[in-house]
Amino acid sequence: NWSMSDFIDAQIAQIRETVGDRKVLLGLSGGVDSSVVGVLLHKAIGDQLTSIFVDHGLLRKGEADQVMASLEGKFGLNIVKVDAQKRFLDKLAGISEPEQKRKIIGNEFIQVFNDEAQKLDGIDFLAQGTLYTDVIESGTSTAQTIKSHHNVGGLPEDMHFQLIEPLRTLFKDEVRELGEKLGMPHDLVWRQPFPGPGLGIRVLGAVTEDKLQIVRDSDYILREEIKNAGLEETIWQYFTVLPGMRSVGVMGDGRTYDYTVGIRAVTSIDGMTADFAEIPWKILAKISTRITNEVDHVNRVVYDITSKPPATIEWE
Ligand code: XMP
Repeated sequence: NWSMSDFIDAQIAQIRETVGDRKVLLGLSGGVDSSVVGVLLHKAIGDQLTSIFVDHGLLRKGEADQVMASLEGKFGLNIVKVDAQKRFLDKLAGISEPEQKRKIIGNEFIQVFNDEAQKLDGIDFLAQGTLYTDVIESGTSTAQTIKSHHNVGGLPEDMHFQLIEPLRTLFKDEVRELGEKLGMPHDLVWRQPFPGPGLGIRVLGAVTEDKLQIVRDSDYILREEIKNAGLEETIWQYFTVLPGMRSVGVMGDGRTYDYTVGIRAVTSIDGMTADFAEIPWKILAKISTRITNEVDHVNRVVYDITSKPPATIEWE
């Protein structure tokens, strides 16, 4: 009878045997998979694990702090946090084509990671949060790439480490179960999917810090209200986007000419297809009021009522 506790014991024994007294490096993205790998490895080999967490400035509001507070503060992982916001913003300046943005973010990620990894001595292993689905998918060929997905799993091709991939036999929900068994917070383990390029693909077109701020703040309000309404576990993904268009509004006696924020919320089983979530009007109204009141330079909020297909979940 297969149980998660047996799995943990077996993995820990195997990791210890493989690693011996050598050292392991892990790229932490803040996502569920790499976080679970981090906690599991730390349990097995303690300070022989060093994690690198690249803050590309495209994370959600409070996310970087939350990752550090939880993984470093609570679980005691040794984390090198790299504040690379400026590097990413500089590289993205003036770039508006979605695929080009994705490639820039993915490449920069690898470079920042490599730069940091090179500063560390005597690393023999690289740990990755590869899942069973990644193992299967990398064996198939898709006829056409709709979006070039980037995540930490695709890291340094030119580095010659031995790989440690303790999740490669697991599905996503098993990884979440594993995380909970390891004592990780429910909120962290059950987080909605978040794309590698982060808010960089939710500010449509050219990314600026001002625009990121609008997406960060509106997204935070949306998440709060979805949580208050108890809807966070029934909706697959919910976030805001900034199309970059402005329109005319009115405030007091005055005319405004400001940005529109789009709300995207979908139900889905696997992200391959999706339906827009039927969020009650009252809750949408509250979200809209809060966003226009609390986020500067936003005078209009729209709800995306398209399913996938024909739309994709993310707007870029
Ligand atoms: P789309 O927009 O293609 O998204 O309908 C399907 C799911 O994939 C997520 N997504 C990504 N995940 N790296 C990731 O790890 C990426 O580059 C990426 N792009 C999209 C998206 O959030 C949704 O869950």
